[in-house]
Amino acid sequence: MDSALGSPGIRTTGWRVGAGTIQDPSYVREAFARIADRYVTTNHVLSLGTDILWRKKVARIVRGWKPARVLDVATGTGDLALEMQDACPGAEIIGSDFCAEMLAHASKRGLAKTLVADALALPFGDAEFDVVTVAFGLRNMADYAKAIREMRRVLKPGGHLLVLDFSLPTGVLKGPYRWYLHNVLPKAAGLLTGQKDAYEYLGGSIEEFPMGRAMCDLIEAQGFRGPEAEPLSFGVAAIYTAEAR
Ligand SMILES: C[S@@+](CC[C@H](N)C(=O)[O-])C[C@H]1O[C@@H](n2cnc3c(N)ncnc32)[C@H](O)[C@@H]1O
Repeated sequence: MDSALGSPGIRTTGWRVGAGTIQDPSYVREAFARIADRYVTTNHVLSLGTDILWRKKVARIVRGWKPARVLDVATGTGDLALEMQDACPGAEIIGSDFCAEMLAHASKRGLAKTLVADALALPFGDAEFDVVTVAFGLRNMADYAKAIREMRRVLKPGGHLLVLDFSLPTGVLKGPYRWYLHNVLPKAAGLLTGQKDAYEYLGGSIEEFPMGRAMCDLIEAQGFRGPEAEPLSFGVAAIYTAEAR
């Protein structure tokens, strides 16, 4: 925890989860390994299928950029990478993740190219990709700024970054949604997965994740231009896009 203090883009309050914290990469990897079998179903049930629509929207945006090579960082069970594989048939889509158990599902579900890799030290050279995407992954990383810089490094100048992640709605919905996040969601996910503690961090991670202008500023500071935020479903999630300088 102390190592996180004072560095931009790193969570400093820390919400403890069982024996670990989300700042602890080995805890994150192990938590996702435990829920890998039920991750896809749980997502669809808890979001009432909305996550599918969000990923389809992202795949349409990426298709519009006409990429030849796309890296989906923290691809997990491959949901977004699979959508992009369908939407961009001519492109090479690679899904990377540091949790082999999650990636095994991505391969089984038809993702052609997967790679076990830590997003904070990607095993690629500079400027290899036209597009880098990360869906619901950046929030789980120990150092947001470092992760974004690493994505910038592997992007060609003029290449596109796209981040899809949760955020908090503003206005009257914010209170009820926060109550749902902290009270209903961990219990429901616990029932579905048998791993309630793996979901207890979720509300805290969303609370601490930069959103809107703050996320755009963070992205811009890591070597991008023109960051834009698009809220989804009343602000429950957001898409951030930016171009590599
Ligand atoms: C909530 S899942 C998201 C999976 C997928 N992108 C999706 O949209 O469903 C988060 C994923 O991030 C991965 N992850 C977290 N930190 C990582 C890191 N430093 N390097 C690589 N993968 C990481 C986890 O292993 C997990 O598979």
